[in-house]
Amino acid sequence: MEYYSEASSWLHFMYTTFCFFFFAFTFFFSVFAFLVFILRLRPCCDCDVCRSYLSGSWKMEFDNLSDWYTHLLRKSPSRTIHVHVLGNIITANPENVEYMLKTRFDNYPKGKPFSAILGDLLGRGIFNVDGDSWKFQRKMASLELGSVSIRTFAFEIVTSEIKNRLIPLMSSIAGRSEAILDLQDVLRRFSFDNICRFSFGLDPGCLQLSLPMSEFAEAFDLASKLSAERAMTASPLIWKMKRLLNIGSERKLKEAIKMVDELAHELIKQRRTAGFSTQRDLLSRFMCSVSDDQYLRDIVISFLLAGRDTVASALTSFFWLLSQHPEVVSAIREESDRIMGQTEEQASFEQMREMHYLQASVYESMRLFPPIQFDSKFSLQEDVLPDGTFVRKGTRVTFHPYAMGRMEKAWGPDCLEFKPERWLKNGEFMAENPFKYPVFQAGPRVCLGKEMAVVQMKSVALALVRRFDIQDAVPSRAQRFAPGLTATVRGGFQVRVHERRQHQ
Ligand code: HEM
Repeated sequence: MEYYSEASSWLHFMYTTFCFFFFAFTFFFSVFAFLVFILRLRPCCDCDVCRSYLSGSWKMEFDNLSDWYTHLLRKSPSRTIHVHVLGNIITANPENVEYMLKTRFDNYPKGKPFSAILGDLLGRGIFNVDGDSWKFQRKMASLELGSVSIRTFAFEIVTSEIKNRLIPLMSSIAGRSEAILDLQDVLRRFSFDNICRFSFGLDPGCLQLSLPMSEFAEAFDLASKLSAERAMTASPLIWKMKRLLNIGSERKLKEAIKMVDELAHELIKQRRTAGFSTQRDLLSRFMCSVSDDQYLRDIVISFLLAGRDTVASALTSFFWLLSQHPEVVSAIREESDRIMGQTEEQASFEQMREMHYLQASVYESMRLFPPIQFDSKFSLQEDVLPDGTFVRKGTRVTFHPYAMGRMEKAWGPDCLEFKPERWLKNGEFMAENPFKYPVFQAGPRVCLGKEMAVVQMKSVALALVRRFDIQDAVPSRAQRFAPGLTATVRGGFQVRVHERRQHQ
C-alpha cells in the first residue's frame, strides 16, 4: 500500500515538473517568436499611418477600419499605401489589381498564412488551396455550376424559400407597431437554408424564427467566426500556441469543427446509402467523381462558407440603402410592374433578366458595400506593381474593393452616392471592368457563384420590395461593421415592416 502511495506521489511530482517545464518552455518560446515576428514588421515605424494604427487614433474620426483605409487610399496619388507595422501593402488601383489577379496570378497565391488560418475548418476545400488541388476543384466545380440543371435547381430552391418561409415570416411581423425585426438575422438564416439545400440537399429550417438556429448552423457560425478571429491576433504564433495547448478560443474552435465534421460525415454517409446518382445537390454531383469522404466534406464546406454570409451581407446593405433611398424603391416597383403587371406571383428567371434597373441597383449597392471588403494575397517572389510599388518576397498585398468603390478617380465626384443609374446606358445594364469592381474578385479565381448570387439577391429584393415597406427602425446612422471574413453589421439591422395596401 505504502509502496503504491509513494509511487503515485513520485509520478505526481514528475507530472507536475513536466507540466511546469512544458508551459515555461512554450511561454518563453512564444514570447521569443512573437518578438522576432514583431521586429520583422518594423513595429517602431514612426510614420503617421503606423502611429495612427498602433495608437488606434484613427477611431476618433472613422467608424470602421475600412473607412480609414479608404481615406488614406483616396489621398495617395498611386492609390496604394503601406502599413509597415502590419507588413501589408494595400491597393485600390485597378491596374495593380489586374496585375495581381491575372497578369502575375502565379506570383500571388492565397499563400500559407491564409490557408493556415482557415485550414482546420476548410481543409483542402477550393476556397483554401492553391496549385493543382485548386485547379482540379475549380474545373470540376465550374462544370457543375455552369450547367443549366444546377441553375434551375438553385432558382427553385430560392423561389420556394421566399414563397414558403420569407414572405410568411415578414407578413406575420408586418403592421405590428411594436414589432421590430433584425433583418440581418433573417437574411443570414435565409441564406444558410438556401446554401445547405443547394450544397447538401439538406434543409436545416433556420428561417423559422420560433426555432433555435440549427445545431449545424450554430457550429458552423462559431467555427467561421473563431477562424476569422485568428487573423486578428498580433502574431499567428499566438493562436498556434493556443491550439497546441488546446485552450481558450482554440479549444472552442476545435469543438465547433468537430461538430461540423460529424454532421457533414453523417450527411455524406446517408447520401451514399440512399444513392446519389439521381440527386441534384452539389454533394451528390461531386460524389460521382470523388470517393474520398474527407475530401468531399472539404469541398462542400468551402461552398457553404463562400455562399452563405456573402449573400446575407450583400442583401442587408442593399435594404439599408433602400431604406434611405425611397426613389430607388419606387423605380424598382415601376420597372417590375411594367414587366410583370400587378401580380403576387414571383418573377420568373426571364422576367428578371429584363429588369435592368434592378440589376443596376444590386451592383451599385455592392459597389458601396461589398460583402468581402478586402482580400489578401502573398507574393511568392520579389516584384514591382504597375504603379511602381516595390513588393518584397513573402509580403502580404491586399486589394480593397470597399475603398475601390469609393474612389473619385474611378467613379467620379458623386462616387459616395447611391445611384443605380450609373450602371445604365440607354436603359440597359452595362457591366464594369472587373478589376475596377473586384467585388466577386476577377481573373482565374473569380467567384464561382456570382450569377447564382445575383439571381438570389434579385429574387429576394423583388419579392420584398413589391410586397412590403421596410423602414430602418433606428434611422440615420452609419453602418458599423464587426470584424470578420465577411462584412456584418454590428448589432444587426433593425427594421419595421408594413405590408403594402395592394397586397392586403
Ligand atoms: C454576393 C455574393 C457573393 C460575393 C460578393 C462573392 C465574392 C467572392 C469573392 C471575392 C471570392 C474570392 C475569394 C478569394 O479567393 O479570396 C469568391 C470566391 C468563391 N465564391 Fe463567391 N461570392 C458570393 C456568393 C457566392 C455563392 C452564392 C457561391 C456558391 C454557390 C460562391 C462560391 C464561391 C467559390 C466556390 C469561390 C472560390 C473560387 C476559387 O477559389 O476559385 N460565392 N466569391
